Amino acid sequence: MAMFLPDEFVERVRSESDLVSVVSTYVQLKRKGNRYWGCCPFHQEDTPSFSVKPDDGFFYCFGCHTGGNIFKFISLIENISYYEAILFQAERLNIPLPEREKTPAEIARDKKRDELRELHEMAGKFFHNCLTMTNYGKAGLAYFHKRGIGDDIIEEFQLGFAPDAWNKLTDAFAKRGVNTELLLESGLVVKRQQGNGEYDRFRNRVMIPIMDERGRICGFGGRIIAEGNPKYLNSPETMLFNKRKLLFGLDKAHRHISQAGFALVVEGYMDVISVFAAGIKNVVASLGTAFTVDQCKKLLRYAPAIYFCYDSDNAGQEAIARALGIAGETNAQIKVVQLPDGKDPDEFIQKYGAEEFRQVVSKAISVVDFRLKHIMAHSDVSGLEGRLRALTEMLPVLGDIKNSAERSAYVSKVAKLLSVSENDILVELTKKGHWHGTRQTDTRNVENVVRQVDDAGRRAGRVVIRMVWEEPAVLDHFISMVPLESVPDPVHRQILSGLNEKFRAGEPVKDIMSLSDLGDEATAELSRSLVEDLGEEDISLLYEACVRQLRRSFLASQYEVHSMNAERLHQQGDARYMDELAASQKIKQEMDELQSVD
Ligand code: GTP
Ligand code: MN
Repeated sequence: MAMFLPDEFVERVRSESDLVSVVSTYVQLKRKGNRYWGCCPFHQEDTPSFSVKPDDGFFYCFGCHTGGNIFKFISLIENISYYEAILFQAERLNIPLPEREKTPAEIARDKKRDELRELHEMAGKFFHNCLTMTNYGKAGLAYFHKRGIGDDIIEEFQLGFAPDAWNKLTDAFAKRGVNTELLLESGLVVKRQQGNGEYDRFRNRVMIPIMDERGRICGFGGRIIAEGNPKYLNSPETMLFNKRKLLFGLDKAHRHISQAGFALVVEGYMDVISVFAAGIKNVVASLGTAFTVDQCKKLLRYAPAIYFCYDSDNAGQEAIARALGIAGETNAQIKVVQLPDGKDPDEFIQKYGAEEFRQVVSKAISVVDFRLKHIMAHSDVSGLEGRLRALTEMLPVLGDIKNSAERSAYVSKVAKLLSVSENDILVELTKKGHWHGTRQTDTRNVENVVRQVDDAGRRAGRVVIRMVWEEPAVLDHFISMVPLESVPDPVHRQILSGLNEKFRAGEPVKDIMSLSDLGDEATAELSRSLVEDLGEEDISLLYEACVRQLRRSFLASQYEVHSMNAERLHQQGDARYMDELAASQKIKQEMDELQSVD
């Protein structure tokens, strides 16, 4: 559990931090007026749309819409939580941590975790030194070299070797005084079934340390170098090693994933190593188990797209189908990379080289194409019956396509593939009800599109936020014109309510970032409001025009409510309809007046 950080501590870290100099250690910035510009480190771009406004302490990227304060920046670029980012920056500034209060159970757990981490680092060095500096390691080195893995990659991945003996690690670590219970818990050693003592779990295997996204060793995978079973042996699940959450290679890949805009997911450790060595560095693998939703979400923190590149054998294709199902539950943009003739990525690169592999990756196909191809591959479409059977299998694939333009395009494609008429396909689609259940997603997509449209209304909302930031007292004025619950944009409503909450509590509104429920979207939009260039205009004049605009849409909605009430009451023969009518007319009048101001 994270310890509670007092506000004064967080405030001190913030006020002693210099946003521009922190950002400059990762991004080259150029000054323009009171803003700095650079190429965004969170997505791939050549022209700078990443902006820092030191006066307010915010950054915002106009390309990928990432934004926030200094801690948000650090948490994203260092790939740590917001909380950890505060500690990280405090450490950088040499600001002592507040006194910690932990329960004994927390203390014990933290201690155990630290010890396990230390042990894994030690083991990583042990295996690496065995490989690179001892006679035992020669067999391992020969194995790696035979597979085209050079010494630079051995260093980069901290690859190692577990000697062909029962007790090398057990003895070495006993000599160093490592606690036996801890060794057993880590799974590096195993208790003898008969008699006393322990023996090494990993023997005569090349060792691949598996690190978390911050590069800390959590477990090992060992590949046998002789014939034998199992081919791969992994560490057991421990406090550190959770196979469903970790992704092999992510520590090295995550920045490349952000830059490339997609993660390449392969099946095996050796595939990651080969692909990385070939210069394609946005590559990770799940740990021999099926790809999970947790892993998918983790990747989506770095890029919106995931390309699966699994072995082209049957098992690999089935694994892809499963992974697509998992990833389909998220909003990942998914593609499939297809390798020819039964190869895995490692074998493909050994045979055809890095350039050819890049080509294949760039030709990744959509999930729909993948599923259609899959059906074509096992269908005989020479006769009518076979074509109809294939069509029956393809209908659900077409029905799953959410975007209607895309769906029409695929309908014509299927029509050509199977030599049937588009119209027949459409009739079948509706008949079978394949669209049923996709409607909801349809409207969500539409909403997203509408939300992204940066209309004048949204800009007005941001101007108000900016004004409140600089002059919180205008909140009284604003609320008298537009009640907060009637602010049309939900994110703006959330930001303004947060600012108002701080203002009413007599706290600086600039502390809004400390509100725990201010989500990513609100953080980004707030940053954008503060960083956005408003032109030469006088902010208070601009503010007035924007409030008028928001009031107009507020009045329009009120007008609607009262007119509808009037109509309903009138139909019910209720005389109070006159009051509603009067109210609506009054609103109408104000709307007309407002109209004439602008
Ligand atoms: P190489 O033969 O070394 O090229 O391995 P590969 O990556 O081609 O292996 P494969 O496609 O057979 O397996 C992919 C991944 O599945 C491996 O990286 C392992 O994580 C896992 N795996 C393979 N075989 C075993 C096994 O015998 N036991 C366990 N636990 N995992 C395995
Ligand atoms: Mn392989």
